[in-house]
Amino acid sequence: MQSAIKSEWLGETLRVSAPSNIALIKYMGLENAEEKLPANTSLSYTLEHARTLIEVKSACADKVDVPMGSARFLNFVKKLKAELLITESLSITSSNNFPTACGIASSAASFAGLTAALTLWSGKKIEQDMVYFSRLGSGSACRSFYTGFVEWQKYAVKPIALPFNDLRHAVILLDKSPKAISSSTAHKLVATSPLFKARIKNVESRLNELKIAISNKNWQEAGEIIKAEYLEMHALFSSANPSFNYRTSLCVEVERWCCDFVRLHGFGPWVTLDAGPNIHLIFRSNSEKQDFLTEFNNKYGHLEVYQ
Ligand code: DP6
Repeated sequence: MQSAIKSEWLGETLRVSAPSNIALIKYMGLENAEEKLPANTSLSYTLEHARTLIEVKSACADKVDVPMGSARFLNFVKKLKAELLITESLSITSSNNFPTACGIASSAASFAGLTAALTLWSGKKIEQDMVYFSRLGSGSACRSFYTGFVEWQKYAVKPIALPFNDLRHAVILLDKSPKAISSSTAHKLVATSPLFKARIKNVESRLNELKIAISNKNWQEAGEIIKAEYLEMHALFSSANPSFNYRTSLCVEVERWCCDFVRLHGFGPWVTLDAGPNIHLIFRSNSEKQDFLTEFNNKYGHLEVYQ
């Protein structure tokens, strides 16, 4: 199974890039917030085209330059340096090859890239212990170390060999403004939902059903399971106390159009939403992606699609 991390030395500078990922079975809710133990196993697909580039070099004092909140990043740099016994000061820059507001989780790619970069800087190989450690920066980061399908269980992260391992991805951008409720806050609030206990009981069997559907190359059935999964996550949001919601009426309309497309044509994307209103589409092939986007543009040409 392949590492999704790329690295090279340019003189005294270490350059590392890590991809983002999209969850098909969502990490949502924590069993233990301090240890960042997820309430359930999640399954993602790695988005190799959407990458964060981290550059590390020696400096007189620790300095970070990142497109996302630098306090959170700097905090994690401290934890990583302690874990890896790095005592020297470092200058770290982070940049994405995708626009920050394009609906792709940049924290997964950034924290995976940062963990990988400092691990290599310390002279260690990137192994399971550091992959797992990256969750302390952002939970979803630990799934960004491998290509293809990746499973994050409570105490381990592993790539899963499944068919459909050359998927294509696009996002319909319905709202580019910063989210009112971050994923981190969502993880805490969902515990107040009366639906949460039942979800935790059922989500592992949904994960197994999904793996079986994908193993059997049953694209359509897998799509139904992926849809039920994101709808359940969003039902947790709207039934939490206080309740919150990312699915605007336009979002619901466009989701329905995408699902109708699949029903009508007998092919089309898997559809999923993260904790946000942007609609992620996953295709089996480039030609299915192009056929879908042609019809989508006829109907919703005014909406932006990032691919
Ligand atoms: C809805 O990994 O962003 O995208 O651990 O607080 O950084 P933190 O949360 P984060 O949560 C991701 C939530 C999700 C589902 C998923 O990616 O599994």
